Amino acid sequence: MARRALITGITGQDGSYLAEHLLEQGYEVWGLARGQANPRVSRMRKLLADVHVVRGDLLDQGSLISAVERVQPDEVYNLGAISFVPMSWEQAELTAEVTGMGVLRMLEAIRVCSGVSRSSGSAGSSGQIRFYQASSSEMFGQVSETPQTESTAFHPRSPYGVAKAYGHFLTQNYRESYGMFAVSGILFNHESPRRGAEFVTRKVTLGVARIKLGLTAQLRLGNLEARRDWGFAGDYVKAMHLMLQAGSPEDYVIGTGRMKSVRELVEAAFTAAGLDWERHVVTDRALHRPAEVDLLCADPKKARAQLGWEPRVSFDELVAMMVESDLRLLTDGGDPDQDSSWP
Ligand code: NAP
Ligand code: GDD
Repeated sequence: MARRALITGITGQDGSYLAEHLLEQGYEVWGLARGQANPRVSRMRKLLADVHVVRGDLLDQGSLISAVERVQPDEVYNLGAISFVPMSWEQAELTAEVTGMGVLRMLEAIRVCSGVSRSSGSAGSSGQIRFYQASSSEMFGQVSETPQTESTAFHPRSPYGVAKAYGHFLTQNYRESYGMFAVSGILFNHESPRRGAEFVTRKVTLGVARIKLGLTAQLRLGNLEARRDWGFAGDYVKAMHLMLQAGSPEDYVIGTGRMKSVRELVEAAFTAAGLDWERHVVTDRALHRPAEVDLLCADPKKARAQLGWEPRVSFDELVAMMVESDLRLLTDGGDPDQDSSWP
């Protein structure tokens, strides 16, 4: 019988790539989708016709229990979150509820449905459902060392980072308390043509495409000096799957080990379209964050050694892929902003 996976965040970037990867591996894939008439669900269904949909919301404990009861998954991937860092200052409480407490609700749903009692402790009480938590390099925040490993201290710089740290520690705690196979992937920034238009890579590649096609002349950005370790989402979802196939439940850092600044990203994207970025980019203090994460750079040695995981797509290939895709999208009359209202 096919193994069954339940993915929260199915309408997001990673949900779509992970679903594709698991379908290729022969899984029966279920996506948790929220809302009465969520337009992102119909968009997802067009892209991923073979994914089954179960209704539920990370804010609603009962809905998660029902979803786990209905799907009877072998593996649960918790990708659902408020994931845009600036939004986490504007809606800090909602971010704590979805991105932080949502992890608790999902773990509880698995614990209850697996029949693991609170009093039995870890001895022999492990449920059969394996759990993946989408942790984030944002937890490192103001970094204490570079590159960052699985044992680097956390110093989150946003309500989002704080909420992710809660989910991370809670996942570890359920592993230790109940013997659950519960792991966190500490993923560094990963991008793709399916990235939300509010994140800087996609904002830049869409800006480049609009300028190239004569639709606008200017691109407004915030801090150009921040540095990130950017990889391709299609590579990173494979690491999520590998973590749940491992012999023992452990956490892993996933990234490329190379850093680039936003300025270098901009240069690469404009160059890919044959444009001079300095003629088009303006900076705006209003787009700076209350507290910035200046740099993030992964040390993915553990994932390479224990999971055999390697990123395949380079930074330049990623940027070129995204610019090319956005040029095609706009030329074909697509509307990349249909579900994004962020600047
Ligand atoms: P994304 O594109 O922003 O997707 C977020 C998903 O969460 C969407 O499917 C959204 O569904 C869902 N969601 C929001 N609120 C929810 C709720 N109350 N209940 C259930 N689902 C809800 O994010 P992504 O880039 O794919 O990232 C996936 C996960 O990895 C996130 O947890 C993110 O924080 C984490 N992460 C991402 C990166 C990265 O660089 N991409 C790096 C590290 C960690 P709707 O369509 O209903 O809004
Ligand atoms: N979004 C955005 N828009 N960012 C800008 C802009 C702009 O106009 N100008 C400069 N930046 C800088 C931000 O200040 C930040 O330092 C960097 O670009 C990257 O911003 P984002 O692409 O919004 O991503 P992020 O690093 O804050 O968060 C992403 O990666 C995390 C993993 O490290 C998200 O995907 C998070 O969900 C994820 O956990």
